[in-house]
Amino acid sequence: MLSPTYPIRTARLLLRPMTGDDVEPMLRYKSLPDVVRYVPYGPLSREDIAERITTRWGRTELTEPGQGMTLAIEEQGTGRLVGDVVLFWHSAENRSGEVGYILAPDAMGLGYATEAAEMMLRLAFEELGLHRVVARLDERNAASARLAERLGMRREARMVDEEWCKDEWCTMLIYALLEDEWRAANAV
Ligand SMILES: CC(C)(COP(=O)(O)OP(=O)(O)OC[C@H]1O[C@@H](n2cnc3c(N)ncnc32)[C@H](O)[C@@H]1OP(=O)(O)O)[C@@H](O)C(=O)NCCC(=O)NCCS
Repeated sequence: MLSPTYPIRTARLLLRPMTGDDVEPMLRYKSLPDVVRYVPYGPLSREDIAERITTRWGRTELTEPGQGMTLAIEEQGTGRLVGDVVLFWHSAENRSGEVGYILAPDAMGLGYATEAAEMMLRLAFEELGLHRVVARLDERNAASARLAERLGMRREARMVDEEWCKDEWCTMLIYALLEDEWRAANAV
């Protein structure tokens, strides 16, 4: 079970549950075809986002496998919504999960996604007690692959034409990080 106290603070960001006030700022990036090109949804409308915030993106804790927790990424100081990050809990028996991330274009290139995803990995390993966390990405998504590598994740697989996404077969890369590797890299 993972039940964080919000907001979760990193050096430059706050991670927090989404609210209705996030619909407009989210629309600015989740409606852009280029931004959602390699995520499993969208482009989204204002109504899509509002509906998801009250349903699947509204979860603030993980109580059982099969759930995902999506958090807004807010810039400290300005209060600007810069993106969102997600942690999925896949299996209790295998203690496995997955991270995902998306940023608004004007917030890319600052290290914000790395900072937010590092916190999600910390929650996954240190609080939820996961053993293995993966990132799954389209092999054309070079920025996402660089991010996974910055997070210390290992490229483990290239799955040719694994998914039918947005009217074409997509070749997926699997990156992974183990609890021991996380602890070794983050030892104080
Ligand atoms: C994937 C995505 C989140 C990566 O965003 P990003 O801005 O490149 O990643 P970060 O926020 O971690 O920033 C890292 C970049 O900023 C640079 N940077 C600048 N200051 C930095 C800092 N203080 N710390 C770390 N990196 C910094 C890094 O060099 C890096 O640039 P590079 O990849 O060109 O070398 C973004 O491209 C995105 O939202 N894409 C659309 C959604 C998507 O595809 N999501 C993933 C689906 S699998």
